[in-house]
Amino acid sequence: MADVEIVEVGPRDGLQNEARIIPTAKKIALIDTLAAAGFRRIEVASFVSPRWVPQMADCAEVLAQVHGLGPRLMALVPNLKGFDAAMAARTDVIAVVTAASEGFARANLNASVAESLDRLRPVLEAARRIAIPVRGYVSTVTDCPYDGPTPPGSVARIAAALRDMGCEEIALGETLGRAMPESIDAMLRAVLEELPPDRLAGHFHDTAGRALDNVDAAFDRGLRIFDASIAGLGGCPFAPGAAGNVVTESLHDHLTARGHRTGLDRAALLRATDLARSLRDPP
Ligand code: HMG
Ligand code: MG
Repeated sequence: MADVEIVEVGPRDGLQNEARIIPTAKKIALIDTLAAAGFRRIEVASFVSPRWVPQMADCAEVLAQVHGLGPRLMALVPNLKGFDAAMAARTDVIAVVTAASEGFARANLNASVAESLDRLRPVLEAARRIAIPVRGYVSTVTDCPYDGPTPPGSVARIAAALRDMGCEEIALGETLGRAMPESIDAMLRAVLEELPPDRLAGHFHDTAGRALDNVDAAFDRGLRIFDASIAGLGGCPFAPGAAGNVVTESLHDHLTARGHRTGLDRAALLRATDLARSLRDPP
């Protein structure tokens, strides 16, 4: 029985950042291979504006081909239009996104933080009416590429706002991947005054190579859900220079070496790693 959950976000957070358009069939093959590794949830797509993120323009076609593989399929939506499209594609879990800093909200969503929350309110209401679970991402939880360091209190306030709107789980996005464990810890101390650790997930990018240490810091504060990207694919197109999420297979090995059970099949993970590497933009 797993005592820690790794949520695979490579097909969304990873592939969204690849400049070359990846054929739909290859995205489906990647999700298929990942599903065989035993993930409970995979974030497979985002229903966002194709003008903002062209790589995700085929998300409905991807969803149509990956039902019934086992994992619950999660998709990111920024507004009601995205939610309706995600529901038409029979998505199991919705992820909504805002930020703890104004600069990133503007760059990523063309909105202030308050405006982005206003846009999400009808999404959460619609999700509640049909009992679809919603995860809420708070981006830039320690640092913003535009505004600098993020005050922990801002993260706690936005996480609480998403909770009050109906998000079951809050994923704490360290978007830039440059945080040190000390700043993750300071941020968590503030957030944990609002939410218990079992409603939080760590979503740590790994630009500075400290994401595993950041996972440890969050683990010590009680978090047991961590996002990761197969082969470390990705980054965010609106956070220039940011690398992908912590590498799934490294996180699996790291947690396993510490005596935890991820419930994942390592051989299947490595098959997915090979496939993911073949999709990556050439250096
Ligand atoms: P906007 O331009 O202000 O939107 O963008 P708008 O409402 O004015 O609409 C403009 C056009 O976009 C219209 O089309 C809409 O129909 C269309 P037109 O009439 O001009 O032909 N449109 C859509 N099309 C498809 N799906 C939709 C949608 N919405 C509007 N859902 C908007 C605002 C939010 C849409 C835009 O800023 C956007 O799509 N942003 C998403 C950017 C994104 O995907 N970023 C990466 C994911 S977030 C991330 O990676 C961080 C995370 O990993 C956590 C972390 O690491 O911190 C989650
Ligand atoms: Mg991310």
